[in-house]
Amino acid sequence: MRDPGRVQRAPENFLDATQIAEVQAGRRDFLRGAFMAAAAMGAGRAGAAEAGDPAILNLPEHSRSLGQPVAARGYGLPSSHEKNLQRRESPGLTRVGGSSVSFAPLQGLFGIITPNGLHFERHHQGWWDIDPTQHRLMVMGLVREPKVYTMDDLMRLPAVSRMHFIECGANTGMEWGNVAVPTVQYTHGMLSCCEFTGVKLSTLLDDCGFDRKNGKFVLAEGADGSSLTRTIAMERALDDVMVAWAMNGEMLRPENGYPLRLVVPGIQGVSWVKWLRRIKVGDEPWATKDEALHYVDLMPDGTQRQYSSIQECKSVITTPSGGQTLLDKGFQNVTGLAWSGRGRVKRVDVSFDGGRNWRTARLESPVLPKCLTRFNIDWVWEGGPVILQSRAMDETGYVQPKINQLRTVRGTRSIYHNNAIQSWKVAESGEVTNVQAY
Ligand code: MTE
Repeated sequence: MRDPGRVQRAPENFLDATQIAEVQAGRRDFLRGAFMAAAAMGAGRAGAAEAGDPAILNLPEHSRSLGQPVAARGYGLPSSHEKNLQRRESPGLTRVGGSSVSFAPLQGLFGIITPNGLHFERHHQGWWDIDPTQHRLMVMGLVREPKVYTMDDLMRLPAVSRMHFIECGANTGMEWGNVAVPTVQYTHGMLSCCEFTGVKLSTLLDDCGFDRKNGKFVLAEGADGSSLTRTIAMERALDDVMVAWAMNGEMLRPENGYPLRLVVPGIQGVSWVKWLRRIKVGDEPWATKDEALHYVDLMPDGTQRQYSSIQECKSVITTPSGGQTLLDKGFQNVTGLAWSGRGRVKRVDVSFDGGRNWRTARLESPVLPKCLTRFNIDWVWEGGPVILQSRAMDETGYVQPKINQLRTVRGTRSIYHNNAIQSWKVAESGEVTNVQAY
């Protein structure tokens, strides 16, 4: 009925000139698509969808002649009709692009896996395409035998593959005070989910004989100019943390840390150190600039909360969502994503009246710990204005809060760790906008 990738329309004042041109091109496609869909639906109701539709009567070129040869592209690309689906930067968010964010287009994605080319990016000091033959990982500090590993050394070790979400602690951060951005791409797009392959950090720590008595923390350091460093408690390091070289079946993309990154399931993205070059075992947290000054939560009493790194249970409806337009009254599939840094998602409820009544959505399999979960729910839109919300609960029993509940505890001046319920308003015209409803 409706292709979410094409229906998505980001308001122009949020885009640069090239993006506006792309969106306008997409909008023409969308209007054509909407017209065809409406025509097909109308005819469908009369029981003669095919009869009046020229697209099915005329045999197109591709049905009458030979197509492209195999391997015309050594590395496959999306269809030329899907060009509008891009990760996008929010111009002006940072002074230079090297320290910015590009947001994943959640409104146009299906299932739970983020295609590698659409994975969000967040760099403190730009990205590099590092030569893997020159890259080294050093493990040192409170260990019996410090070691320097080449990529070949690492890839000979026992490997594991796990599916996990990664969410930047700043995701949805612009919405603390009020509605700030128009689409789900910008409200929630610092979120992605991949199958990662690598070696468990515990395997490397064992290999170097870490000090089990005094080694209470590890420090992870990246090889980029930002010297990004994060402390991780030993208990977590030994649990499910991975030193990964692959995402979704291929080597990491340069933007996402090629050739090596840390995967810290359930924990905010900043701890997933990219271009990983050093692991140090120590006996206390390091309180580096990236944990003492940045990624802290400004509380209502003026104090800063540090090390609040677990990404709490959260969900968002991705279709219909801000910037999209419902084409017609009647049946709609409402779909979205839910996740929790503490384990599995247990339930997602959806409200069609701003939070007064809730219905339980269908969770699509797989439902994995610290991984995105896709939910779907049937809905018949009567054509009037409504407010849509989703509310997730994880296996610990924690329920995603409303924005005003979160503000009561956290105030409005934070940047990080906003996991509030998102509200989308559907107007009578079918247009969907970002609103805050209590
Ligand atoms: N690692 C290094 N070395 N340098 C960085 O700038 N950014 C961090 C983290 N790891 C960063 C880094 C932040 S803030 C986030 S949210 C994630 O990487 C983003 O990962 P992605 O770019 O693969 O989405």
